[in-house]
Amino acid sequence: MKNEQHQDWNPLEASVLKDQRQAYDDMRERCPVAHSDLMGWSLFRHADIVDVLADPESYSNVSQFLAIPNGMDAPDHGRYREALDPNFNATEMARIEPMAREIAAALLEPIGSCGVMEFIDTFATPFTLKTLCASLGWPEQQWECLSSWVHDSQQAAFDQDSVAGKALASFFSGQVKANLDKRRAAPNAARDATTALLGTKIGGVRLNDDQIVSVLRNWTAGQGTTAAALGILVLHLAQDSGLQDQLRGDLSLIPAAIEEILRADGPLVANPRTTTREVQIQGRCIPKGERVTLMWMAANRDSRAFDAPEAVKIERDTRDSLVWGQGVHLCQGAPLARLEMRVAIEELLSRAKHFALDHNDIPRRAVYPGNGLITLPLRFS
Ligand code: HEM
Repeated sequence: MKNEQHQDWNPLEASVLKDQRQAYDDMRERCPVAHSDLMGWSLFRHADIVDVLADPESYSNVSQFLAIPNGMDAPDHGRYREALDPNFNATEMARIEPMAREIAAALLEPIGSCGVMEFIDTFATPFTLKTLCASLGWPEQQWECLSSWVHDSQQAAFDQDSVAGKALASFFSGQVKANLDKRRAAPNAARDATTALLGTKIGGVRLNDDQIVSVLRNWTAGQGTTAAALGILVLHLAQDSGLQDQLRGDLSLIPAAIEEILRADGPLVANPRTTTREVQIQGRCIPKGERVTLMWMAANRDSRAFDAPEAVKIERDTRDSLVWGQGVHLCQGAPLARLEMRVAIEELLSRAKHFALDHNDIPRRAVYPGNGLITLPLRFS
């Protein structure tokens, strides 16, 4: 029988959800290894998380559901990861960039005439999901199904509603399999990410449809994180005219600004591991088989790792940032996420002489498991 563990904190308490950055900063200093029923053992300090990432034998990623490649350990993880890596190589990014730019330009077209825009629903979400559909060679309007899946899955995770979770999994699977069937019926279609997935082999055996569904569940969730990141980036630029003008004057600074803003205000709250043996962290003994949660946002704002961590300084060396994780599970989609964010910010800055928050409305922050924005009203000039 499992020992009942007392709760050091409640991640869903109103004060935590109201300002996640502040709440996790407080936990990092007050109780850096904290137990809760929802997350198991949350780690808040940079050094503790880096130690976990460097020791995949003691901290397993294996999940109860098929999750390729993130819910796997070595040696399976390495095989799947290697087979899927070409989807994010430089050739593939060069193929996707013009499509992403065209999608961004079309979505930003209205700002020339209307002066105001709600950025999340009008740009960030459709942009990232339309870009995914374009890279897969799927009809553009499918982005709306993917969008409702991302939104409803986050809600089901928040509500810990397994019935809704199962229904959503089956809805997503149906969407993907219909597209795979369509492609099999038209084998001469242009080469795209769907063709690549259908041809991907592990140990000489092609991925089956359920495996492709699992891969695409990850990619779609990754686009949700990218949309959240875009909201955060644009919020910061809307509030900091100096930085906005600096980037507009020199677009080559955008990649560094992206890394630094997301270090200070990350779009992804946390990811889990399971201990494969008893471990000691900060003097606390965590038994084998327990869930450990890596609190990315708190680690990236740890003053033990970054000077004046709450300040955004685009000249900062961000190599120790954990925005993309670290080690064997380092974000596989980072090249695509970076490309999308760079293209979106380039297009936005070059189309608008200036943008700021629309003071007739207020931005609404997302809550756990996300940390982006639900709404971001902008005014352009
Ligand atoms: C700003 C956007 C994104 C952020 C901040 C982000 C962050 C992360 C982080 C922190 C991890 C490591 C998780 C862990 O160690 O448990 C991860 C893993 C992963 N991400 Fe992303 N991600 C983003 C976008 C994307 C996109 C667009 C895709 C795909 C299209 C993607 C695909 C993946 C995959 C497949 C993994 C698992 C890698 C593995 O287990 O080997 N991500 N991501």
